[in-house]
Amino acid sequence: MEQEFHAYETKVPCLWNIELIMENSLKGKHIILGITGSIAAYKAAYIIRALVKKGAEVQVVITPAGKEFITPLTLSTLSCHPVISEFFSNRDGTWNSHVDLGLWADAMLVAPATASTIGKMANGIADNMLVTTYLSCKAPVFVAPAMDLDMFAHPSTQQNLDRLRSFGNRIIEPAEGELASHLVGKGRMEEPDRIVAVLEDFFASRTRLEKKKIVITAGPTYEKIDPVRFIGNYSSGKMGFALAEACAEQGAEVTLIAGPVSLKVVHPNIRRIDVESAEEMYQAAIAVFPEADAGILCAAVADYRPEEQASEKIKRETKGEMTLRLVPNKDIAAALGAIKRDNQVLVGFALETNDETAHAEGKLKRKNLDFIVLNSLRDAGAGFRCDTNKITIIDKEGGTTAYPLKSKLGVAVDIVNKLATILK
Ligand code: PMT
Repeated sequence: MEQEFHAYETKVPCLWNIELIMENSLKGKHIILGITGSIAAYKAAYIIRALVKKGAEVQVVITPAGKEFITPLTLSTLSCHPVISEFFSNRDGTWNSHVDLGLWADAMLVAPATASTIGKMANGIADNMLVTTYLSCKAPVFVAPAMDLDMFAHPSTQQNLDRLRSFGNRIIEPAEGELASHLVGKGRMEEPDRIVAVLEDFFASRTRLEKKKIVITAGPTYEKIDPVRFIGNYSSGKMGFALAEACAEQGAEVTLIAGPVSLKVVHPNIRRIDVESAEEMYQAAIAVFPEADAGILCAAVADYRPEEQASEKIKRETKGEMTLRLVPNKDIAAALGAIKRDNQVLVGFALETNDETAHAEGKLKRKNLDFIVLNSLRDAGAGFRCDTNKITIIDKEGGTTAYPLKSKLGVAVDIVNKLATILK
């Protein structure tokens, strides 16, 4: 049933001419704008103006400190809604329901977000209406930090931001520039038009992914030597699982074929198929890909397996010196590339240690991929096991985009945005 949201019905006359609203991905979207106590709070007025002009409905929730920087009257006039700040503002027995508000939203944006609010969000300290609303919010959350450069660089702020990223929240990185302290550095809230563009891109990409069927492979494969030993690799599954969450969050129906990893899936739109060997992964992928709109092959599939598997544990005492003869596994990416229809998109990964671009381009062509995601073990913080990755996307038209080091979820969002632009 569609969630109705009565508590915050418009009581403020709206000055915007609805005729001016252009068709775009923000039209009709419900956005909670959380404003906290930063000098950048004045920019929230521009954010509201841009969102409302694009047809979004904006409900402002402001912290007590936020009200020191910008007046609720300005915000309610621009948003056409009363501003919410306190749980019990009317002193008449009624109260503002953060739960209803959290369910009403299509997205929550906290801009500006101070170090204090970021810390409270990261640690569940629900001592104001903004943080309680955040904790009740089921919709995607965007956070635009604003603070002094040293506060931003402090390990405690960075850890809190990492924690928010790990919850799936999207951090809109602050820009470098002159700060309220007149120092120059990173900490200045991103400009309102850029922040609005991030939301617009998010909803545009979500529209394109809604109900699309996406198959993702993730993790390593184990190739048995005997009942207690295997050939494997260092893949943790983190990159593939992040992709699955990012696709599901944008409305896709995901089938995640996972090698042996200890990760859990969170989103209900993810159907997980657990496999162990490359052959099992191949069988699962070949069965589901024909029904899919896209495949993302992130698994580190073993290229070889032992020709024979011992049925009992191999004993060093009886075996002595031993040679393992390996035979090639099927190439899942190449097999899917060979049966890919025109209306399907296939994305591969290339994990390289040298001559990265040439190797990635070779795989892109050989496996008939639409684009390939290159990550190199020469980049610190990239590749196996870590929570971050650094990628370059190379597409079949020859276009190349290099991205900075990001959390694996941030990387997944970039890959999904690219996928969304080419999905038919
Ligand atoms: O799991 P994490 O710890 O988070 O690490 C992420 C990752 C490093 C595993 C991931 O980012 C990554 O790079 N995955 C691909 C690793 C790899 O095996 O790359 P490759 O260059 O060997 O293979 C090229 C492509 O062919 C890949 O899309 C791979 O999934 C696919 N392939 C390879 C061999 C095979 N038999 N079947 C395949 O489908």
